[in-house]
Amino acid sequence: VICGYGNVALELCKILIDNKNYIIEKYNLDLKVRSIVGRHGQLYEEKGIDLAALMELEKGSSAIEEYAKQKGLTLKTNIVFDGDVLVEATPTDVESGEPGLTYALKALDSGMNVVFASKGALVTNYKLISTKAAELNLKINYSGATAAALPTLDIGENSLSGARIKSIKGILNGTTNFILTEMFANDICFEDALKKAQEKGIAEKNPNLDISGFDSGCKLLLIANRIFNKQYDISKVDIKGIDKLRIEDINLAKSGGQTIKLIAEARFHGDEVAMKVAPLPVSRTDMFASVNGTNKCIVYDTIEMGQIFCAGGASDPMGAGAAVLKDIINLYK
Ligand SMILES: NC(=O)c1ccc[n+]([C@@H]2O[C@H](COP(=O)([O-])OP(=O)(O)OC[C@H]3O[C@@H](n4cnc5c(N)ncnc54)[C@H](OP(=O)(O)O)[C@@H]3O)[C@@H](O)[C@H]2O)c1
Repeated sequence: VICGYGNVALELCKILIDNKNYIIEKYNLDLKVRSIVGRHGQLYEEKGIDLAALMELEKGSSAIEEYAKQKGLTLKTNIVFDGDVLVEATPTDVESGEPGLTYALKALDSGMNVVFASKGALVTNYKLISTKAAELNLKINYSGATAAALPTLDIGENSLSGARIKSIKGILNGTTNFILTEMFANDICFEDALKKAQEKGIAEKNPNLDISGFDSGCKLLLIANRIFNKQYDISKVDIKGIDKLRIEDINLAKSGGQTIKLIAEARFHGDEVAMKVAPLPVSRTDMFASVNGTNKCIVYDTIEMGQIFCAGGASDPMGAGAAVLKDIINLYK
């Protein structure tokens, strides 16, 4: 079941069509989309929705309404949570967590695992969702909500099994990294760099979640909760954004052989994890300085395996759709 048929869900469906045979051969999985929930109801076909026919239509709730019309189906308003996995891809609301919260809880109650692309439900109600999933012996995965194509969680969960993690640090937001890169490389003020990001479609019309550091804080929280096995909420993250940064600050850093990056850091102390997001000077020879434009990165510092640095990954809906697919496949491993 997919909730929300926007950019990410559309890309997921495209990949499911394009990679169908590859996924069957490599993972022995024949994935079907039985249902898509839109703003005005649920498209449901027990044998599986004809994704190729759906691709002939536009994206969005209107596309599933049109599909239903063409096939003589009626959208269900009493949503049926029936299947192995729910993909939560509705808009992120970090205040109420809705509509993803209700969808995710109902899916868990119906015995479904949940893969999130959206962050809202997890940021507002991590404890509730993770406790319920554990009690019901179900799984939640959320790579799409934690920098999508960049494997922020996979490294900590799989590649570092058994090693003790001292800290996790990252550049987790592509929009702010683009703005900082522009300010540094082209000597322009914050406002001009933001305008450029908006003109290129990198920053949203309302860029507050990004420039305030809140988006990075949410991703850090979700990564730290999973990797350090905590159930913290967002109030535990000390967040400072880049909105007050002046070109003079960048130039001062530059004159000292440094650049400024919005760094999100979770550090393990005793049994607690301290989390903070802030624009910080980093040496131009530091690995963070090599991450420019909309690129993101993550660094795990461990006792036994040393430092692991990973950067890049597509920052677009296709990358996010692929991250959702990866999470689905990993549920079956
Ligand atoms: N875009 C990315 O690259 C990216 C990357 C990582 C994570 N994410 C996260 O993934 C989620 C989806 O992103 P997106 O870019 O696909 O967003 P989007 O294009 O805005 O799509 C969201 C879809 O959800 C539908 N929707 C709204 N309210 C709904 C409701 N109550 N029930 C069911 N459907 C509802 C919308 O319907 P209408 O068509 O009627 O508006 C829209 O089709 C977001 O939470 C986003 O933060 C996105």
